Amino acid sequence: MGIGLGLVGLGSFGSQFVELFASHPLVDRIGLCDREPERIAAVASKPACRAKHDPRDAYPSLDAICESDLDALAIITQPWLHAPQCVQAMEAGKHVYSAVPVISVPDADEILEWCNRLVETCRRTGMHYMLGETTYYRAQAMYCRRRAREGAFGQFVYAEGEYLHDVDAHTNLRRVREHRLRGQAGAEWAAVEARYGARGVRSGPMHYPTHSTSGPISVMGAHAERVCAWGYANQDGDPYFAHDAFSNETALFYMSNGATMRICEFREVGHPEREIFRVYGTDGAFENDTWTDNQTRHALTVDEMRDPLPEAVASAFEAGMGQANYLGGHGGSHAYLVHEFIDAIASDRVPAINAWEAVRYMAAGATAHRSALRDGEVLPVPDWGDPPG
Ligand SMILES: NC(=O)c1ccc[n+]([C@@H]2O[C@H](COP(=O)([O-])OP(=O)(O)OC[C@H]3O[C@@H](n4cnc5c(N)ncnc54)[C@H](O)[C@@H]3O)[C@@H](O)[C@H]2O)c1
Repeated sequence: MGIGLGLVGLGSFGSQFVELFASHPLVDRIGLCDREPERIAAVASKPACRAKHDPRDAYPSLDAICESDLDALAIITQPWLHAPQCVQAMEAGKHVYSAVPVISVPDADEILEWCNRLVETCRRTGMHYMLGETTYYRAQAMYCRRRAREGAFGQFVYAEGEYLHDVDAHTNLRRVREHRLRGQAGAEWAAVEARYGARGVRSGPMHYPTHSTSGPISVMGAHAERVCAWGYANQDGDPYFAHDAFSNETALFYMSNGATMRICEFREVGHPEREIFRVYGTDGAFENDTWTDNQTRHALTVDEMRDPLPEAVASAFEAGMGQANYLGGHGGSHAYLVHEFIDAIASDRVPAINAWEAVRYMAAGATAHRSALRDGEVLPVPDWGDPPG
């Protein structure tokens, strides 16, 4: 028996994952769920979906799909909904895949409470949780984790990561926000967001930190222990930043392995979109697709850096997605995310980007924002340890 997988949230991003989940050889049934019925209809008609989707497996809400007998849900809804929805799904006996981040709401303390609840729910229910962090499966990250396992870095001394995405960049964040506020779930958010504002709670880009933190943290296998951070506040009254204390935030962390880590999350910057990291050790370093030690430099191709997918899975993805772009978006990471989640569920093992790992990326950002709000006060970063087993 293969896996019955339900896709919850079929908007701009969720709809990009339909072919990959539907063509994975270990998936034999696809459920579809969105509060906007036309989004289900648009996805159900895709050729890759038709073979594994029965129209009776369409659901108008998360509540409804949680009542189904599907094994697992991929939740790709708006970022302020993820953690409560993942907890609800695990309580209903479903394994969950979540779009990033763990959750993004204006209140850093609330984010940390959700991190705690997510880990507690995983532990208690025995359900698997995986964060769909695209940077984790960029070729550079796969390569660096391989070199780290070989010990090629020596002792880690320093790492830096950044997610530079100007609000008016090619993927225009004003339009992304407009789209996310459309529909029933979006309309409900305006009232909730206003209540944070009334309490004086102001957000910042460190509440969407996983593209910048996941590379260094996953490569070094270390977590953040302490942080100090500062923010840059928008200067021209841009309404996009009306709910934010800062449009850019920069943080310096002391890590559990003795290294330091610098993270930038910028939404106002005259630079093309970039999500990447660099890692430096006593014996070797990685930067700009290049491996170096103190004698040599070796420029790497993407194919050299990327791990192979199992052949049968790669062929199935090629059949579902077309040969030219069968790995999907964000540096070809989509295919790896889907395969890792499905393979982990099928073999009942903890996924690579499990809850314990995911909250390390999130807690680093949320605590950095708290520090920035306190003018760089050094704060401890909570950690929930490693997954059991
Ligand atoms: N590189 C990346 O990892 C990356 C890139 C883009 C987006 N994302 C993440 O993907 C998520 C989705 O982004 P998007 O642009 O597709 O948003 P979107 O607004 O286009 O889609 C979200 C969908 O979820 C549906 N939804 C919300 N609550 C629901 C419920 N209770 N039951 C059923 N359906 C529900 C909405 O109706 C909507 O169609 C975001 O959280 C974002 O952070 C990640």
